[in-house]
Amino acid sequence: MNETVTGRLDGIEACVFDAYGTLFDVHSAVASLRKRVGPLHAELSTGWRVRQLEYTWLRSLMREHVDFWQLTDDALRVTLQTLGLMDTALHDELMQAYLALEAFPEVKRALTLLKRAGIPTAILTNGTPAMIEAAVSSAGLDALIDKQLSIESVGIYKPDPRVYQFAVDSLGITAGNISFQSSNGWDAAGAAHFGFQAAWINRYSQPLEALPGELSVELPDLEGLPALLGIC
Ligand code: LAC
Repeated sequence: MNETVTGRLDGIEACVFDAYGTLFDVHSAVASLRKRVGPLHAELSTGWRVRQLEYTWLRSLMREHVDFWQLTDDALRVTLQTLGLMDTALHDELMQAYLALEAFPEVKRALTLLKRAGIPTAILTNGTPAMIEAAVSSAGLDALIDKQLSIESVGIYKPDPRVYQFAVDSLGITAGNISFQSSNGWDAAGAAHFGFQAAWINRYSQPLEALPGELSVELPDLEGLPALLGIC
């Protein structure tokens, strides 16, 4: 654990989760069509994700919002073109696969323990309501997530503070009593800077981002979250 991460969550009244990369494995879309994609599958999956995120930040700076479905489609098309893999049928199948991403293996159990303990849960995501509803339903998590919150209600992408404020307003709970889980270091930093207790789910053992916002805890996955909350 990084020494700047304190390793404590205190007085948590609700848990808010990032979706893509945190609950759902974004790389499972390309993995499901790995043979079709061929040897550049890893480059495609990483390039698609990086460009998708870059487009969220760029469009927010340019004040030219399009929703995450359109933006994900754009990022995929340009990444396929960049790698010399453009094929309309493959593009469309990959977009459909994005609606049925795999949840990481420990997610269901962690959410079940939170549910049993009566801790409210929400997703706060860049994804559109339709995208997130499809992913939650396909992973069988419907009964375990109390609120699905999309930045479409705000009209700007993370880490704009208005996005995190939207979660506070929707839950009616003070930011300091909410834990925000994200595997995306920049999103965890944004949430911590806003005022949440941020749990960085560092799935890929990445170094701490040099960004404002003091993270509360760092975990390799969500398995240890219920214990940190003192509910198991
Ligand atoms: C999300 C992106 C950041 O789900 O992964 O909001």
